[in-house]
Amino acid sequence: MRPREIIPGVLAVGAQDFDRRLFDALIPLPDGTSYNSYLVHGRDKTALIDTVEPAMLHVLQARLEGVDRIDYLISNHTEQDHSGSIPWVLERYPGIELLASAPAKPMLTDHLGLPPERIRTVADGEKIDLGGRTLRFIYTPWVHWPETMSTYLEEDRILFSCDWFGAHVASTELFVDGAHCVQDEAKRYYAEIMMPFRKIIQKNLEKIADLDIRLIAPSHGQIYRDPKSIIGAYRDWTDDKPHNVVVLPWVSMHGSTAIMVERLITALSSRGVAVFPFNMSVADIGQMAMSLVDAATLIVACPTVHIGPHPAVLAAVVLANALRPKARFASIVGTYGWAGKMVEVIKGAMPNLKVEFLNPVIAKGMPKPGDLEAIDRLAEAVAAKHAELGLA
Ligand code: FEO
Repeated sequence: MRPREIIPGVLAVGAQDFDRRLFDALIPLPDGTSYNSYLVHGRDKTALIDTVEPAMLHVLQARLEGVDRIDYLISNHTEQDHSGSIPWVLERYPGIELLASAPAKPMLTDHLGLPPERIRTVADGEKIDLGGRTLRFIYTPWVHWPETMSTYLEEDRILFSCDWFGAHVASTELFVDGAHCVQDEAKRYYAEIMMPFRKIIQKNLEKIADLDIRLIAPSHGQIYRDPKSIIGAYRDWTDDKPHNVVVLPWVSMHGSTAIMVERLITALSSRGVAVFPFNMSVADIGQMAMSLVDAATLIVACPTVHIGPHPAVLAAVVLANALRPKARFASIVGTYGWAGKMVEVIKGAMPNLKVEFLNPVIAKGMPKPGDLEAIDRLAEAVAAKHAELGLA
C-alpha cells in the first residue's frame, strides 16, 4: 500500500474505512469514512499531520514503510480517530517532535496517556520551516473540540483543516471538485458535528477569509480542489437566516397522529413552506440533522405513551436540542387517550433552542374536524412567521 500523491512532496498516508457504519456509537455512516493523515516533505525536514483511527493503524504503517525519519508530528485535533495512533508514531520515530495547540496538551495526556514532556505546544500563528516549505498553525477552536487547530502550508497554499470541512465518506478518489464540494456527506457531517458551534465557526471563517487557499485537505473525506464551494456552503449553513423550511419528526402508533401529520404537510406545502417529515420509527437521524441545518421551524408530532411523548420523537427532540440549530419557531402536534403531559415534557427537552412556541394542536383520540382546522391555523401561523422573516 503506497502513499497517494497530492502534489510532489505532499502525500496522503491515511486510511479509507469503507465498512464503518456508525460513529460515536450514534451517527449513521452510509458512505463509510476516512481518517486522513498527510506527510509533508521539505528540503530538510518532514512533518506528519494527524494520524488514523487505531483500528486502521496497519494502513498508516504500510504507507509509511520506507520513511525512516519524520521530524514533526502535528496533532490538529485530539479526538481518537486522528490522535489514536500517535503512540505508535512516537515509538516508531523516537526523535519526532509532537506539536499541538496549548489547549490540546492536557487533552492528549488525558485521552492517550502521553507524557507531557513529549508534547511541544505551538502558538496561534507560529510557523515551522521544513526547508522550502513552511507550516503555519492557525487556532480554529471548536471545530469541534476546544483545542482544534488547522495547519496551513504556505508555499503550496494547502489548508489541513482536520474535522472542519470534512465529510464522512470513504472513496478511492482523492479529490472532489466543483458542486460536489457541497455534497450531502459534507452537510451531514456539518449537521452532526459542527452545528452546535455555528457562531464560533462564523468567527473561524472570518479568520481564514484572507487566506489564499488552493486546496483544503480535511481529516475525513476528500480533498477540495475548489475550496470556495465548501467555504461558501459553510457560510450558508452557519448564517443566522434560516430557510423557508419545516422539519417534522413524527411517529404514529394507531394512525391518529398520522392523519394530523398528513394534514399538516398538505397545509404547509400549499402555503409554499417546504416540509421535511421524518417517521422516527425508521428515519436516519443524520438526514434529520441535515434538514435542521436550514429549518426555520421544528414541529414534532406524536401520540402520548403512558403520560409522556412517544420516546422515539422525544429522542429526536433531545438530538435537536444538542445540535442547537438556527430554528426560530417550534410547535407540537399530537394525540392522547385520557390524560398526559406530552407538551410539557417536549418543551422541557429543548432548552437550548431559542424558539418562539406556536400554539400546539393536541387531539383526544382520533382527530376531529376541529382539530384538523387547528392544524390549518398552525400552518397559517408558520407561513406568516416565515414571511415576516422574509423567507417566503
Ligand atoms: Fe474526526 Fe472530531 O474527530
